[in-house]
Amino acid sequence: MMNFITDGARNFLPADLFATSEARAHAAFRQLTERTGAGNDFLGWLDLPIQTDILDKVKSVAQRLRRQSDVVVVIGIGGSYLGARAVIEALQPHFPTLQRTNGTPLVLFAGNNISEDYLADLKSVLDQRDYSLIVISKSGTTTEPAIAFRIFKEHCERKYGKEDARNRIVAITDEHRGALKQLATQEGYDTFVIPDNVGGRYSVLTPVGLLPIAIAGFDIDRLLAGARRMREELLQHDQVSQNPAMQYAIIRNHLYLNGKTVELMVAYEPRLQYFIEWYKQLYGESEGKENKGIFPAGCIFSTDLHSLGQYVQEGVRMLFETVISVEHSHHALPIPFDEQNTDGLNYLQMRRINEINQIAETGTRMAHIDGGVPNLRIAIPEINEETLGEMIYFFEFACAICGYMLDINPFNQPGVEAYKKNMFKLLGK
Ligand code: PA5
Repeated sequence: MMNFITDGARNFLPADLFATSEARAHAAFRQLTERTGAGNDFLGWLDLPIQTDILDKVKSVAQRLRRQSDVVVVIGIGGSYLGARAVIEALQPHFPTLQRTNGTPLVLFAGNNISEDYLADLKSVLDQRDYSLIVISKSGTTTEPAIAFRIFKEHCERKYGKEDARNRIVAITDEHRGALKQLATQEGYDTFVIPDNVGGRYSVLTPVGLLPIAIAGFDIDRLLAGARRMREELLQHDQVSQNPAMQYAIIRNHLYLNGKTVELMVAYEPRLQYFIEWYKQLYGESEGKENKGIFPAGCIFSTDLHSLGQYVQEGVRMLFETVISVEHSHHALPIPFDEQNTDGLNYLQMRRINEINQIAETGTRMAHIDGGVPNLRIAIPEINEETLGEMIYFFEFACAICGYMLDINPFNQPGVEAYKKNMFKLLGK
């Protein structure tokens, strides 16, 4: 089970912080669990881990798409793609184009940028492969995925004929509204619904995340089991001393009010890079409003210790870090002995790379604390479906509490409209 560890922040926090913040955090907890806070019509995600009625359909559509495809393209942006990508990239081998097992399609993503070259390159890949498309948009009107879908729908219909193309396209969208819903009904695509009461960035445990994750060959039952375990843990404990999400929210809030306005989400495993992207979207869109909010940033260490490490150690002291700390790797790879020892590494002979990675983590933590960077840790035994499920629910729940402690609505995103308005005006829509 995931463990939240606060030792590395102790020097930066008053000893009685939990006691003095208990009432505030408790009020936020009640706003959330009694569904009385701002945005309370978007709390469907709270119960997703115990809703299993759509799983059979998800699994059977996933099986069909797996059978008929070398590649499955997931078209969506923001909350309509980051959760699936976070879980798939955390679980698949690092070089999926070369290491994938037979019968498992490669899941690729589109509609999350407006790059002509990206779309053209993907189109030429799809010329050579059998593929299916999953188009995901809650509103059904977002420009980036709409452009990508128009391109690939046309490609798919030309390649397979209109009839066969229909079996290769799945739409995930609102139950009633939006252009995508209308198109899906008109064309007769297989469709999944994004519930009205679940916002994009909270949708990974709906078919938005579950279908692509199942297609990539991962166990969505275990993912939900992990989330369910965390749900029970967080809902049943309304005392700060027993509730890690409330503790995380209190500490974040205190650090923020004391000038630590940037949170660096850090992992020492590169396969967690997209999990960090998912966290950035969840917290950025939820908290960053009314001129408030912690700026969510991310790093992969030790890689970024050789780029941003200097800043983290000695730059403006506005940072705290939260490290996703993974105990066990999936493989064992010791450092071999070398007769000549020209590189001087024999002192490490037969020690596991993972042990060295963990020592790098400990050494970095000590240095950053000395340098004025409070350190929080989310410790998991290993990266698997269950620990990812636990972390997903933990971060979602904590994000809502953090939002209520900041006195904002964590479930809207009014600021996202500004760039769209300008773009549409400039495009003459
Ligand atoms: O979290 C959100 O609500 C957003 O990031 C959306 O997911 C994103 O803008 C895509 O929206 P849609 O699914 O409506 O295309």
